[in-house]
Amino acid sequence: MPSSLTAPQRVRNRFTTRARQFDDLYEDERLLVRLLRPGLFRRRQLAVDTVREYGQPSVLDVGCGSGRIGEFVLEAGASRYLGIDFSAPMIELARDRLERFGPRAKLVTEDFLTAPLEGTFDVVLALGLFDYLPNPAAFARRMFEHCAGGGCLVGSFPAWSAVKGPVRKVRYEWLGDCPIFNYDREGLERMFRDAGFARTELRTPGHSGFLARAYRE
Ligand SMILES: C[S@@+](CC[C@H](N)C(=O)[O-])C[C@H]1O[C@@H](n2cnc3c(N)ncnc32)[C@H](O)[C@@H]1O
Repeated sequence: MPSSLTAPQRVRNRFTTRARQFDDLYEDERLLVRLLRPGLFRRRQLAVDTVREYGQPSVLDVGCGSGRIGEFVLEAGASRYLGIDFSAPMIELARDRLERFGPRAKLVTEDFLTAPLEGTFDVVLALGLFDYLPNPAAFARRMFEHCAGGGCLVGSFPAWSAVKGPVRKVRYEWLGDCPIFNYDREGLERMFRDAGFARTELRTPGHSGFLARAYRE
């Protein structure tokens, strides 16, 4: 049964108590782990490809976690990187990991919806984030506000599947006290359009979710 905490509090608890456990998922790049969790590596690759396409973009990484994607996009040429996450242990791990990039990389421990953020970014990353958001439209709107003209949002979105859907529901919501949400193509296209994005590209690698790029004109 879910606790009496709000959905964002439950998500924050999960990623506060399990920061290291989440981070370790990336460490093990053996074939079996890659087969079990292909989404982790596919979304990181899309972030890297997007940064390379833009050249030396500024990057906002919402729900940056332990900086596992941050280090790749900085290596790929991001001129400026701001990672934001409301889990303090995740930000600690990210700080250690991204220290070598000096002032190009900044990190803040805040809730994205209420964080005092200024300016716009060429690329806004939201990878492994929308899975946990009860109010995704509000996040998409705020991401649009901080996306520069000509820029894009890169996001990952789980979809319900007959096998993975029930397993994730039991694992996260029932056993882990953490809310989890799924998306479909029409809903995503509508959400991005309503947020202000001019064009959306959706891919369905592996068919258990979407990788999206939404462009601001
Ligand atoms: C599954 S992790 C993904 C981390 C990273 N993007 C990656 O793909 O490796 C999701 C992260 O989103 C963060 N998060 C969830 N809701 C948030 C919010 N409202 N504001 C800031 N961070 C949030 C969590 O704390 C967690 O670290």
